[in-house]
Amino acid sequence: EKGTYPHFMLKEIDEQPFVMRKIIQEYQDEQDNIKLDSNIRQAMMDTDRVYIIAAGTSYHAGLVGKQFIEKIANVPVEVHIASEFSYNMPLLSEKPLFVFISQSGETADSRSVLVRIKELGHPALTITNVPGSTLSREANYTLHLHAGPEIAVASTKAYTAQIAVLAILAVDTAKAKGLDLEFDPLKELGIAASVMESLTDQKEAFEKIAKEYFSETRNAFFIGRGMDYFVVQEAALKLKEISYIQAEGFAGGELKHGTIALIEDGTPVVALSTQENVNYSIRGNVQEVAARGANTCIISLEGLEQESDTFVLPHVHDLLTPLVSVVPMQLLAYYAALHRDCDVDKPRNLAKSVTVE
Ligand code: M6R
Repeated sequence: EKGTYPHFMLKEIDEQPFVMRKIIQEYQDEQDNIKLDSNIRQAMMDTDRVYIIAAGTSYHAGLVGKQFIEKIANVPVEVHIASEFSYNMPLLSEKPLFVFISQSGETADSRSVLVRIKELGHPALTITNVPGSTLSREANYTLHLHAGPEIAVASTKAYTAQIAVLAILAVDTAKAKGLDLEFDPLKELGIAASVMESLTDQKEAFEKIAKEYFSETRNAFFIGRGMDYFVVQEAALKLKEISYIQAEGFAGGELKHGTIALIEDGTPVVALSTQENVNYSIRGNVQEVAARGANTCIISLEGLEQESDTFVLPHVHDLLTPLVSVVPMQLLAYYAALHRDCDVDKPRNLAKSVTVE
């Protein structure tokens, strides 16, 4: 039920802090340690390479998950779009572990990969919001997202739930491997939840930005580097899916290799800057497009901000910035679609779960 909300999407955006807290609760034992199926732990210990398979928003969460698993648990990861993997399987490592990320657990493109890798005898873990779904039943292991039903076609709370669960999985693996860790995911997720709440309490700010940048335009660009590059790809998908604005998420440094030719007077370019090591360079990219007439907007992280930034996100752990930086992106897409009179919850040509290949 939508309750007092005009759209499921807005309700689901607002639910994100609660989902974070629910995940903390579900994945925590009495001693405040991570609680996770020991078979999954073993599978993560046994593998020499994780293959993440997903589509759309879940694929974007996978890009962030790769960073966690590689940086925290020291296991190599490849992330593949399910429909590409099906028809063009890469050379596999000796002991692959397949991780399917799917809100619905019913995505046909992902299922066809699962069927194929099972024939080959490889183990599979499904991370899903629907235990009992096809991808969950057919995999060896399941991790539950605990996000509650997601009704809006545009995925929001499933994305942040996927990122949270992937962080927990990475830290659990690192601990099992005896790696020295300073990162306490359950504590940091709690902090991220509070920051998310402060952002969903400031909707007017994002409504104003959406109106200013997206009410008239036919196209839009989102740019970022590192972690922010993954989030801007999700930002662009969200905007195009519900507002029908042609939007792309680019790596800041890649613009000058072609895409900058598209920048005209007034083209909206939204930049994300939450990573210290690329703060300087992404700001350089913003200057390059501004010099060609782009209508630029910078959303940065506390500690990295400059005075002219449009919005500054409160500080969270470096690795968890996608959890908070995506919230403004979801709200920008929501308000852009609203201002353009689009059907927010049921955009044209799309189904909530894509059960055909
Ligand atoms: O249910 P899944 O997570 O497998 O769905 C994958 C994509 O179809 C889904 O994320 C889609 O891209 C969303 N509409 C994005 O908002």
